[in-house]
Amino acid sequence: MYRYDIAVIGTGYVGLTTGACLSSLGHRVLCADVDARKVEQLSRGEVRILEPGLAELVREGLAAGRLGFVLGAANAVRDADVVFLCVPTPMGEGGAADLAAVESVVEEVRDLLPPGCVLVNKSTVPVGTAERVAELIGRPDVSVVSNPEFLREGSAVHDFLNPDRIVVGAQSPAAAERVAALYARLGAPTVLTDAASAELVKYAANCFLATKLSYVNAMAELCERVGANIGDVTEGMGYDRRIGQAFLQPGPGWGGSCLPKDTQALLQVAESVGFDFTLLRATTDSNARQRERMVDKIAHACVGPHGSLRGVRLGLLGLTFKAGTNDLRDSPALAVATLLREQGAELVAYDPALSVHQAELTEVVRLLDEPYAVAEGAAGLVLLTEWPEFRALDWGRMANLLAGRVVVDTRNHLDPDVLSRAGLSWHGLGNQPVV
Ligand code: UGA
Repeated sequence: MYRYDIAVIGTGYVGLTTGACLSSLGHRVLCADVDARKVEQLSRGEVRILEPGLAELVREGLAAGRLGFVLGAANAVRDADVVFLCVPTPMGEGGAADLAAVESVVEEVRDLLPPGCVLVNKSTVPVGTAERVAELIGRPDVSVVSNPEFLREGSAVHDFLNPDRIVVGAQSPAAAERVAALYARLGAPTVLTDAASAELVKYAANCFLATKLSYVNAMAELCERVGANIGDVTEGMGYDRRIGQAFLQPGPGWGGSCLPKDTQALLQVAESVGFDFTLLRATTDSNARQRERMVDKIAHACVGPHGSLRGVRLGLLGLTFKAGTNDLRDSPALAVATLLREQGAELVAYDPALSVHQAELTEVVRLLDEPYAVAEGAAGLVLLTEWPEFRALDWGRMANLLAGRVVVDTRNHLDPDVLSRAGLSWHGLGNQPVV
């Protein structure tokens, strides 16, 4: 039996990526989860999360004896020098992060942690959580460290192994340095700070990204009103190194398991200390409006300014919150679909990452197993998620199948010239005057 020096509690996409990547850096990592089936599957090298490179790293780690999986946190921590908490912190009451999972793990392992152990919080948690966890543990020999992750779903392994930065915050500089040393091989800039600042970096970054996107989506709307082109506007902005080209793509609103939850949580944090964060509230309000604006745009393009969507068949391309993932959590695509359904539209959809048996969707859409079937007889097609393969569709064939020759592209993802040659009318964001 090997001795594992790192324990990772929680094998969601953050925990599993952390465990597998740390093991690929040469550390011996034992991962724990409360789900026995998941633990069994992972122990056999079966990875159910769609995350490029992750399954390979898990299998390599298992084969090399540097990675293991056990049921329950208690079974993982007894020998660990460092314990990573990677459990979910979903949106709780009033938008605040729900810390129940963090607290229950802390209770469970409190008396089992070896002397001198470092407990690292990787879950996104409100400012002050490290302090609270330290209180809950109540052991002066155990240090609590905040080490937020900045992994994007769909490129988590790449992001872990090529980080823009490592952020580590703790009351004890020695504990912070011990955690930072685990990443030394990655050669990334490292910010060593106090726990509250480290906790805030994560929210500050995600909320800034959300604000950037709400700004771009608003700018796209303005472009339509003044007759400008958002693609050219963002390209022109993005060459300014202080702005950068990344994260400037307009869309149906931002979503996923992180940005919506983290913006709400930071609003709560602000409120709890009497700070009126109007800028961030405008960011989230404008994101909610963006989804409604997409529905108006779709209705306008497919049935005209005064028409009704009742009984109108629409084909949807993409439902996941972004391309490269099978995650539907807070998906703007699904939110737009739900609003269309509420207006009576008949929806069929294709998403390369979803199976037609995805039961939770049946109230909203009927999933089909290929994109051409979605076009058949539809009054219009709506692209909601930017899967690369949608660009490569046979658009002549799509045009022949459609009843209405309209494509609403809520991601500006398709080539308008290709669609126009196929006899389709393309409606993007921020590049055509509103009529
Ligand atoms: C986000 C952050 O990007 C990560 O840095 C962070 O670690 C992660 O949350 C987290 O907190 O765990 P993720 O939720 O995977 O990552 O998704 P993003 O790639 O950031 O996309 C978020 C949303 O913005 C998606 O709906 C996406 O379609 C949208 N988006 C993104 C745009 O509409 N335009 C863009 O240019 C970029």
